[in-house]
Amino acid sequence: MIIAGNWKMNMTRSEAISCVGQIMAGLPENSPHQALVFPPAILIAPVIDACQGTAAISVGGQDCHAALQGAHTGDISASMLKDAGCSHVILGHSERRSDHGETSADVAAKAVTALGAGLKAIICVGETLAEREADQAQAVVETQIRESLPAEATIDNTIVAYEPVWAIGTGKVAEIEDIAVMHAHIHAVLTSLAPSLGQVSILYGGSVKPGNAAGIFAVEHVGGALVGGASLKADDFLAILAAAD
Ligand code: PGA
Repeated sequence: MIIAGNWKMNMTRSEAISCVGQIMAGLPENSPHQALVFPPAILIAPVIDACQGTAAISVGGQDCHAALQGAHTGDISASMLKDAGCSHVILGHSERRSDHGETSADVAAKAVTALGAGLKAIICVGETLAEREADQAQAVVETQIRESLPAEATIDNTIVAYEPVWAIGTGKVAEIEDIAVMHAHIHAVLTSLAPSLGQVSILYGGSVKPGNAAGIFAVEHVGGALVGGASLKADDFLAILAAAD
């Protein structure tokens, strides 16, 4: 299981160092699971410094630009993330899609650059409540996958995160049955793109908490979780990791 903590625009430098220190202290030895944290860009370097010497936790960026470098005020490049010591980058999170108008084509362009820089991409997809109520959830997610994954995507460099937009930060979790149906659908779509992509990990995200994680992890084709709010508390993040056992 991959348990990824998306800190979003939260934490000061000292809070970040303290949180990752508590996570490292609480991680079981030889855990078969992969713990990842995604601090805001300015906190990546101190968090990586705080994790020096442990392979048990990896660090990633929350976004990157599609261009290699240049005049893009306020942005960060994939190679900067790689150079700072990141292994992963989240792309196409619904908050990027809604706050910054990112399209799936934008996400695919960013993914090409990220994979080229040697990062692994966690590509996010998910329907809005209106789309689910209109019975469009599977079609929307399928289109997002087909348009957001670049031709360069492989089982080694790409992870998909299914995050129903209406479940993010709301406390509402999708029903287990709905998660099972959507993850099976995503698995089928990935397999149709290339048989080997059927092995790509598919994370669930949206109000994952210690109390509901085990039930979600038991669903077929769920390869872990992308956790927002609950990843800000080391104890909750560790409890979600423990639920993966
Ligand atoms: P949440 O966020 O766990 O706070 O719902 C998940 C995410 O946006 O990745």
